[in-house]
Amino acid sequence: MRAWMNGELLSDPTAPAVAVVDHGMTVGDGVFESIKVVDGQPFALTQHLERLARSADGLGLPAPDDADVRRGVAAVLDGHDLPLGRLRVTYTSGPGPFGSGRGEDSATLVVLADAMAAWPETTQVVTVPWPRNERGALAGLKTTSYAENVIALAAARERGATEAIFANLAGHLCEGTGSNVFYVVDGELRTPTLASGCLAGVTRALILEWYGAVEVDEPIEVVSGASEVFLASTTRDAQAVSRWDDVELTAPGPVTREVMETWRKREPELLGL
Ligand SMILES: Cc1ncc(COP(=O)(O)O)c(C=O)c1O
Repeated sequence: MRAWMNGELLSDPTAPAVAVVDHGMTVGDGVFESIKVVDGQPFALTQHLERLARSADGLGLPAPDDADVRRGVAAVLDGHDLPLGRLRVTYTSGPGPFGSGRGEDSATLVVLADAMAAWPETTQVVTVPWPRNERGALAGLKTTSYAENVIALAAARERGATEAIFANLAGHLCEGTGSNVFYVVDGELRTPTLASGCLAGVTRALILEWYGAVEVDEPIEVVSGASEVFLASTTRDAQAVSRWDDVELTAPGPVTREVMETWRKREPELLGL
């Protein structure tokens, strides 16, 4: 792993570096991005940095300096042999008081790079009982307050799945802990709208642009009648779902295969710093 923090490449990426009173650590007052690396090149970096700025704005933080983040990304990738890897950019409000009120110190910016294993082509998911709050202050923001996802994913793993799927307060399909959901009903590819409270996934947006799908909010039960389901995320790309709770699905089905093929062809367009 390589680590860069506030302008410096760290000589030991595992040594303590962030202040113990960083508000990102004490109360989760921060935002982040995970970015795929293919052959040493970041994928869709601009889209991820735009979302980082939107998430920061949602928390009332000034946008991180784009050139600074790009310098960090270049520093952790320079000379790093990464056929398949992942960047993590974390931006917090910096050192602050113990409570929820924010301090006056400057922000913390960290960029990490590490290798990553490719996901298999198919996977299993389960529905979890906790709702996403589509009306909450953090809806649609990629913040470091991700402990709900930790709990949900642990519950999914106990049931032999790799992703937990949330409905929202309205009972509509929302998203996974780290992925968006696409499904096919009556031959039509569908995905929840951003009003469902799901994250505006970079992968989701590119599938909408490159392949197309109908954005619609429907009760989560609609998926029991789906002929195909796939997950979309930075690390999974499009990954077919072969089992959702107790329902077996064709995976990958014909639509999912076409999406995967489109992805494979177009991905190189967005590689680079
Ligand atoms: C909650 C959540 N939903 C969806 C996604 C998928 O987004 P992306 O395609 O940008 O990785 C992620 C992953 O970043 C996520 O954390």
